[in-house]
Formats: sequence, C-alpha cells, structure tokens
Amino acid sequence: MCGIFAYLNYLVPAKRKEILDILVNGLKRMEYRGYDSAGVGFEGTNTKNGGFELKTIKQKGKVAMLQEEIAHSTDLDFEKEYDIHIGIAHTRWATHGEPSPTNSHPQRSDTTNEFLVVHNGIITNYKDLKSFLISKGFEFESETDTEVIVKMVKHIYDKNPSISFRELVELTIQQLEGAFSLVFMSSKYPGECVSTRRGSPLVIGVKSKAKLSTDHIPILYSKDHRGLMNPSLHHTDSTTEFHPIGNKEVEYFFASDASAIIEHTNQVIFLEDDDVAAVQNGCLTIHRIKRTLDESTTREVTTIKMEIQQIMKGSYSSFMQKEIFEQPESVVNTMRGRVNFDTNRVVLGGIKDFMVEIRRCRRLLFIACGTSYHSAVATRQLMEELTELPVVVELASDFLDRQTPVFRDDVCFFISQSGETADTLMALRYCKQRGALIVGITNTVGSSICRESHCGVHINAGPEIGVASTKAYTSQFISLVMFALVMCEDRISMQERRNEIIRGLKNLPDQIKEVLKTDEHVHTLARELYQQKSLLVMGRGYNYATCLEGALKIKELTYMHSEGILAGELKHGPLALVDKAMPVMMVVTRDKVYPKCMNALQQVKARHGNPIVLGNTDDKETQQQANKFIGVPSTIDCLQGILTIIPMQLLSMHIAQLRGCDVDCPRNLAKSVTVE
Ligand code: F6R
Repeated sequence: MCGIFAYLNYLVPAKRKEILDILVNGLKRMEYRGYDSAGVGFEGTNTKNGGFELKTIKQKGKVAMLQEEIAHSTDLDFEKEYDIHIGIAHTRWATHGEPSPTNSHPQRSDTTNEFLVVHNGIITNYKDLKSFLISKGFEFESETDTEVIVKMVKHIYDKNPSISFRELVELTIQQLEGAFSLVFMSSKYPGECVSTRRGSPLVIGVKSKAKLSTDHIPILYSKDHRGLMNPSLHHTDSTTEFHPIGNKEVEYFFASDASAIIEHTNQVIFLEDDDVAAVQNGCLTIHRIKRTLDESTTREVTTIKMEIQQIMKGSYSSFMQKEIFEQPESVVNTMRGRVNFDTNRVVLGGIKDFMVEIRRCRRLLFIACGTSYHSAVATRQLMEELTELPVVVELASDFLDRQTPVFRDDVCFFISQSGETADTLMALRYCKQRGALIVGITNTVGSSICRESHCGVHINAGPEIGVASTKAYTSQFISLVMFALVMCEDRISMQERRNEIIRGLKNLPDQIKEVLKTDEHVHTLARELYQQKSLLVMGRGYNYATCLEGALKIKELTYMHSEGILAGELKHGPLALVDKAMPVMMVVTRDKVYPKCMNALQQVKARHGNPIVLGNTDDKETQQQANKFIGVPSTIDCLQGILTIIPMQLLSMHIAQLRGCDVDCPRNLAKSVTVE
C-alpha cells in the first residue's frame, strides 16, 4: 500500500541534502508495504517577494530511482541550510491511474505548487468533486483521486485567504468521502504542516531535546463548515487548558507506519479518524470537529519499543529470510510473561478482565484475511475441543458480503498482523455495531484494530517487513492456542491435555531451530521444483491449515499456481489433477488422521503421483513410503502445524529466489491492505 513520510524541522538547522536524505530514508523504511512509484515535495527556489516556491521530484519505480533523480537535480543547492523546513514524501501503490511521475504524489494544487499533498487511501466521491472543480475552472493533470483534494484546498483558500492552514484542511476534509491519511504543505503557510486521517493510519513522531511539556495532548474542538459547534457538547470546548507540544527546537515526523519514524524518535502520537494535527510555530495541536460522548479527549504521547535493528535486514538476504529465522525467538516473545511453565498458568493480560463475559458467550467468531485467516483455521479444532463452544472461522471479505447475523452474546476475534486490513476492520465495525464483544489479535501496537477492539492480545512477533507473513503466522497460532488454554483452565477433565499442550509450547523454540536446519535440504528440493508450473499441497486435520498457508506462500512469492487441498476431498475432484507430471506435496504427521493421510498418499501414488512428504523425522514408516521427505520434530497434534509450516515458508522463499522473484515485495501485493 502507499506510504506517507513527512519531516518538519523547527529551529533545528538542516541542510537541504540532509532533509532530502531523511525523506528518502523514511520512504525506504516503508518500501516493504509495496509500491510502484515515489515522490518528494520540499522548499525550492525563492521568489522575488521574499517567499518561496515548492518543488516536487517524482519517479516511477523504486525509491532508489527517486534518489538518483534527486541526486541528478542540477538546479538544487544541496548545501542550503534551513532553520525551519517542511518536506513531504510518498510511495504510491497505483489505484487510480498507472504508475507514472504525474500520477505520483505529492499532487499539487496548480502549476506554481501553492499546495502539495501526499495521500494514502481512496476518495470515493472524487468524480463528483472533480466535476465541481472543473466547473470552477480547475484543470487536472493526473488520473488520481488525490488531485481533487489539493485542488479543493486551493479552491477553498482562494475564497477564504485569511483562514488558517488547519481550518482550510478541516473545511476540505468535510467534502471528502472514502478513506485517507493526508499530509499537506503550502508556500502560503511557510513552516507549517497539517495532517489528518480517516480510515487509514497516520502517526506523528516528536523529537525534542527538551522534555515534552505533556504526555497527553488535549483535543481542541473546531467549528464545522457551517460555523457550528456540536451543540450538546459546547461546554467541553476550551482552548484555555491547552498545553502545546513543542514550540522550540523540535522535529516532527509524520508517517503511515511507525517503522519509518523509529530511527529518529520513539515518542509518537497515533492519530484517530478525523483528527486534524497541525504544526504552527513549532507547536503541534490536534483539532476535531465532531465529538461523540464516549471518545477520548486527549491523544497520548506513546513510547514505542521497536528497535531499529528489528527493521534492518542484517546479514540475511531478505527480510523474509530474517523473519523465518527469527521464529525461535518470536514465539518466545509471544509467550513471554503469559505462559508460566512451572505452574502451567496462562494469563493474557489484555483480555483477563473480559474473561467472565467471554466464557458466557454463545459462540466464538474468528474473522481475518489471508495468512491471518489461516491461523484461525489452524487452531479451530483445538478451540472447539477446549472451549466446547461453536467456533466460526470467516474470511472478512466474504463475511461482509453476506451480511452475516451477529448477536450481542457473540465474541468476535479479529486477527490481523498489520491491524489495518480494511476488510477485517470493516467486519470489526459491523460486529461492534451489533453489540458483540470485540477482541483484537494484532502485531501492530496502536493500529486501528487494536484501538477499536474492546480488548485484545498483542502477538508480540516484532515488526514484520516482508510482504509475505511468516513469523506473524506462528505467533498468531500460539496466541490463539494460549487463548484456548485460558478458556479451559478450570476444567478438571481437560487438565492432562492442557498440561501436555503447555509442555509442547515450551519445547517449540528448540524444535523450530531443528526445523530451520532443514533449510539446505529444502533448498535442494526447491531446485527440483522451481521450473514447474504448479504445486499441490495436500493434508487434513490439524495440517490442513499448513496446506492452505503453504500454497498461499508458494503462489504469492513464486507466481506459480498452487493449491492447498483437504486430503479428505481428494476423491471429490482434485484427484483428477494427479498424474506423474503433477508436483504434489503431502503433509502427513503422526496424529489421529494419520491412517487417512496414508490412505490419501496411496491414492496419489496409485495415480503415478510422486509426492514429497512433509512428516515427522522419527516416522520411518512414512519415510519409506515417500520418495522425497522433509522431516520435522514431533510435537503434540495441535501444535504440529507450527513446525510443518516452516519448511513451506523456506520452500516458497527458495523457489521464488530461484525464479528471480523479489521475495520481500512480490508483484501486485502490499503488506498492509488498507483498501477493500
Ligand atoms: C500473505 C499475507 C496476507 C495477509 C493478509 C492479512 O503472506 O501476508 O495474506 O495475511 O493480507 O493481513 P493482516 O494480517 O495484516 O490483516
């Protein structure tokens, strides 16, 4: 998805070269989100009347190409120093109009660049706004929906040249429908910057030598476009209690993703929908127009714990490889402070106050997309066993298409690595409106799903940069297992099973290390497979999710066709695909459905299929049946999927690399899917 990064230095002198480097670096940190063009906007040449003109540099392709374009700009004095400066930058993932410099952001208000904007999201009423603006004499140069925003700003400014930049943006966003996060700059408002969001994330980093005057910024309430305050809430409007953040020697960083900010500061403010954050004279204020009774009247300055090393590749060839190999530690982080292996107690701090309500519910719904959905499929059987409740697992997009009935006594889990996936978020709002209890299972602190849930579990896998989800999957899996364990802690009949699972969890980090040792062997198999057109992945029971998730990894990274097939369904169609030429993998581990899996293996072999079997290292019998075998350590049935998915992650990565594909940024995909 698109990425926004902006940098404002106030009384912190910086050369133009440094500023541009900060902007470009910010974009590089967000490259993993997926994009096809990039651009920057900054102060350019001085005008005769003492002002200045804004300049943009935009380029199709990678951020490195934008960087080259900047370096070759002969008309720029890179040594020019600014005490106060604002620069904005963007990586674009094309939705309206092909990737090209003209369609890239910043988009501009007019040929003199009076106003510039960078935008994430989609403006759904842009056609109406465009017709209106054309009728007012505006000429459009791009095919983007974004251009209407900045032209609307100019239109409103021309009619009200004395209003503040913040008010101008407030009036503009009242005209917009859809989803957006926006950062504006203008030659009419030197040194000022205004940002806002609705349905698309935006975070502001604050860096200052002086201690911040407050750790909560009070919200200030503005008048709406008719000049009216929200009448029932009039009395809460006050500017007297306002303590600004900043005002001398301060730097602000605006980004759609905290990972772009963390190398500069760990003090951040997550904006909420419809917040308008403005910096003027070095002070940051947050305004809102609408106020609902239950909303918070402050925004907290949060200290984020992400480390810069966590978002660096180090010696790994890709972020994906790094993240696969991080799993022995990331699973420990997911369980840290939650599973007590001495007492067999499991405590999930984020939901413990809601457990009474959760235990009373009539059913559990797990709603997610892609890999996150697979983590729910992987744990459904255990969830049903340990909770004895009806468990519904849903793809968020399909759930919304169906207008599914949801009740007040339902508990709805929303699983999302990014916490920003549009379909999952909309499904959350749908269920919340119907009175269900909302539990977020996310990896991104401060994300929309986190904030909009009643309670939740952070999976604590650490930042996941590779577009293909790997370590988040195993951590989501473990989080859901921990929840199931909490649900049955008082059930005497389940104690033995519970204790066995907890022992299994304890051994997982070492067992994952063992699985990672198969890397070279998996690489050899990848060399045999990489020129194939298709790969079927079959299994059943606890391993069905491994088949779905393994096939998803193969298709998204290698662009080969791949399908996860429930082995129980073979005879109902998929067996027709099998012949001696069709590459097949089968996941066969020693659990309750082992005999059925062996049966499926025989059926495939009887059709001259030659499957690669993914099984338990100590299972010699199965190994003998397989021509090619990948072995993983044995664990308890319900955790086996954590070990069987790892060779699939490695296999997809190796096949992709052998096919020359970019494993961190697969074509057409984005890390965080913030549009429906
Ligand atoms: C696949 C992958 C996607 C995501 C899906 C949901 O490797 O990463 O399928 O799992 O887009 O994303 P989140 O978990 O951020 O909601």
